[in-house]
Amino acid sequence: MHSAARGQESITDLYHRSAAVVDLACISHNLGVVREKAPGRKIIAMVKANAYGHGLVRVAEHLASEGVDYLGTAFVEEALELRKAGITVPIITSGPFSRFQIGLFIENNIDLTIASVDALHYIQEAAEFYGKRVNIHLKIDTGMMRIGIRYSNAHKLFAAALQAEKYLNIVSLFSHFATADHEDLSFARLQLERFLEAARFFDHEHRPSPLLQIANSAALLRMEESQLDMVRPGIMLYGYHPSPASAPKAELLPALSLRAKVMYFKVVLQGNSVGYGRTWTAPQNCRVVTIPVGYGDGYARGLSNKAQVLLRGKRYPVLGSICMDQTMIGIGDGEAYIGDEVLLIGKQGEEVITADDLAAQLGTISYEVLTNISARVPRIYLDKRTPCQSSQLQQVRES
Ligand SMILES: Cc1ncc(COP(=O)(O)O)c(C=O)c1O
Repeated sequence: MHSAARGQESITDLYHRSAAVVDLACISHNLGVVREKAPGRKIIAMVKANAYGHGLVRVAEHLASEGVDYLGTAFVEEALELRKAGITVPIITSGPFSRFQIGLFIENNIDLTIASVDALHYIQEAAEFYGKRVNIHLKIDTGMMRIGIRYSNAHKLFAAALQAEKYLNIVSLFSHFATADHEDLSFARLQLERFLEAARFFDHEHRPSPLLQIANSAALLRMEESQLDMVRPGIMLYGYHPSPASAPKAELLPALSLRAKVMYFKVVLQGNSVGYGRTWTAPQNCRVVTIPVGYGDGYARGLSNKAQVLLRGKRYPVLGSICMDQTMIGIGDGEAYIGDEVLLIGKQGEEVITADDLAAQLGTISYEVLTNISARVPRIYLDKRTPCQSSQLQQVRES
């Protein structure tokens, strides 16, 4: 009988070479944390950059089925992928676009971010052309200096948007924090003040203000006063804190594990080197296994001779330079067999390696580690229908 029929699968049965395994139950749990921390707020679930590496469409479908109000992408191409997959939830794109792409937004019912008066005018023209009232969000720069009209000039954009109301529906005003994950929140507080001050324009006009939104994960967790009408969590949905140092901590569950199978086993004799550039030489005879994951999969070359992996519940080091497609692991005199599962990110027994651990070794942030996991790595999803659900959630519930 096929093992699936017996219900005895393990995750290793689901892939041959390597996989990024995404436990959707963890994403649901993390969304629950968002709802608990920001009760009653509308939620824009950020799924840009391939849902932070977790796989755009499937994660977006899952979040939509969990009732988020909006999905957030950076670019219209990402939003189009969601529409093509049949996802009908409202989508906001927060990044810049070319004026030649405006038709794509309007035809596919994707909300537009407007960051300047000029852009507002040409979007208005396009809306008139299509004979459609288009949903817009006005982006205010309160100190990030990325995109957005400067807070002190925002009234000009607001006034122009009100004049164009026949064609433009102002859904929200938004801004983005530069330092909400820093120990010192004073600049973030100043940004919030600037944002609220700019939004007062609508009071002076005796108009209800559009929805207000500024909180990313860090602000949502650390500055309750910034939650306003809508929150825009990204990294926390995937189970990570924006910065490992920032308190307070919520009980988030990393949803992704990066896995590979042992494909080759050998003994390297004392004095022999391993890999390109001969950057590691065996001080004594040792066992070395090869896994089929390299920097072409997003396992950064900067982790060469630094990272560890988990195998049979133990930590072992990466030896030598990580290749494009393969990486060598030293197991000393430990035991390993072809087909054994190796965790590059994830939990095995009592041992855990997180994207934060790899980020620390690389001098970067978990966001980059996760989004860099390349398209070559198959994404496998565990959900209620997958017989072998990860036990992580169960462990948390039991503890
Ligand atoms: C405009 C915008 N909103 C929200 C987010 C989500 O931020 P985080 O992942 O820190 O929650 C991002 C991510 O960079 C962003 O660019």
